[in-house]
This record gives sequence, C-alpha cells and structure tokens, in this order.
Amino acid sequence: MKNIVLSFGGSVLLSKDVDVEYLFRLADLLRKLSSKNKIYVVVGGGSVARTYINLGRNLKFGEDILDSFGIEVTRVNAKMFAHLLGISNQEIPVTTDEAKQIKKPIVVMGGTTPGHSTDMVSAELAEKIKAVRFVNATNVDGIYDKDPHKYPDAKQIREISVQDLIQKYGTKWDSAGKNIAIDGPALTIIKRAKIPTSIVNGKRLDQLEYALTGQPFSGTTITL
Ligand code: UTP
Repeated sequence: MKNIVLSFGGSVLLSKDVDVEYLFRLADLLRKLSSKNKIYVVVGGGSVARTYINLGRNLKFGEDILDSFGIEVTRVNAKMFAHLLGISNQEIPVTTDEAKQIKKPIVVMGGTTPGHSTDMVSAELAEKIKAVRFVNATNVDGIYDKDPHKYPDAKQIREISVQDLIQKYGTKWDSAGKNIAIDGPALTIIKRAKIPTSIVNGKRLDQLEYALTGQPFSGTTITL
C-alpha cells in the first residue's frame, strides 16, 4: 500500500453549479484506487470560503478570524465528501497527526490552523506519512506563466522546479483567500521533504487518475 496525498481545491469540488454526476464519478475513482493505495484527501474551501472571507474583510475583521472562517468551510466540504465516499472517516480530523492515525482506506480532512491554505496541510501530511506522491487537483490544467482565467494567451508550464516556484511566489502566506497555484508555506515543505508533487485539473478524471497512479499525465510536474 502506497500513501498518496490528494489536495482537492474547493473550487473543483463545488463549482457554482454543483456537478453531482462529476462528484459520483470522482468518488468512484478514489474508491477504485484505494484498493491499491491509501489515499489522504485534503479538501479546500472554494467560493463558499471566499464569500465569508470577503464579507469578514469588508466588516474589517482581522486575518486570523478570516482564516478560521476558511478552515470551518474546508471542514464542512470535507464532511460532505467523506459522506459521499462512505469508506473514509466520517469525523474530520483537526490536525495532520490525527489524520495519520486513521485506519480507513481513504482519509479525508480540511484545514488545520490559520496562516496557510490546505496546500500546506497537504504537504505537511505528505511529509508525515511519507507519501510517495502529492497531487494537487485544481480548476485549471496546471501551472501557467500567468493567470489563465485572466489571460487567454497564458502558457501552461509542463515542468518547473520547486526552487523556481519559490522564487516566483515566495514562501510566505500573504492573506486569507488568496488564490495562487500552490501556497508558499507548502513549497517550503515540498523542498525540504523532497515530495514528488504534481498539479492537475481535478475535473479531468482521466488525467487525475494518471497523476495519482504515477503515469504520464497532462498537467505540471514540480521537479525537486
Ligand atoms: P483553501 O485551502 O481552500 O485555500 O482554504 P485557497 O487557496 O484560498 O482556495 P482553493 O484552493 O481555491 O480552494 C481557504 C482559506 O481557509 C484558510 C485560508 O484563509 C484559506 O485561504 N485556511 C485554510 C487556513 O487558514 N488554514 C488552513 O489550514 C486551511
């Protein structure tokens, strides 16, 4: 049994119009892969988290409380996904140490403490459980040279070193709800623990399966 960590952006799991068929197919895929691998899924907050964070920011709340709104939403999303999977834990662990102790074929969790995103939780967990792979499922096809939602001519980067990413994005956490390819604190852990990491479009289930099983996939590979 190989340990694999899958970071699932909330924006993929819960787009504006929730795609029920997609969620069923995603759950089927993860249950299938769990016969050969132990999969740890870390679920993000998506637009629901950002709604609360933006509201709190307009109300002049501090960054820590904004982060805690985000964390709560990631845990609700995780709870929904755990129920859908059925074979995972149903109570959502609040630390990566707790997640590590869970003896289920699939383990589901959300955020932990303020000051980072679920990318960092995923990297921390991947280091603790000595994951063979960390797959970050997002709502675009990988890392681009600029924001593909804003610039139609943005080019996808097939391979980039963790050092180059650190140079580009830094290793600090800037503010709640900020959406970059992978957060700075996560990059620090990926570099230190030499975790094989890939970014893939979570909506493309064929590519997600390839990335999770270590086969060539369409997306971005982070070299160490
Ligand atoms: P996400 O992990 O979803 O971050 O957590 P994101 O990159 O903003 O959104 P995605 O990837 O599109 O889903 C949502 C917010 O919750 C707080 C942060 O404010 C984050 O922006 N959070 C989450 C924490 O403070 N700590 C955690 O461990 C997780």
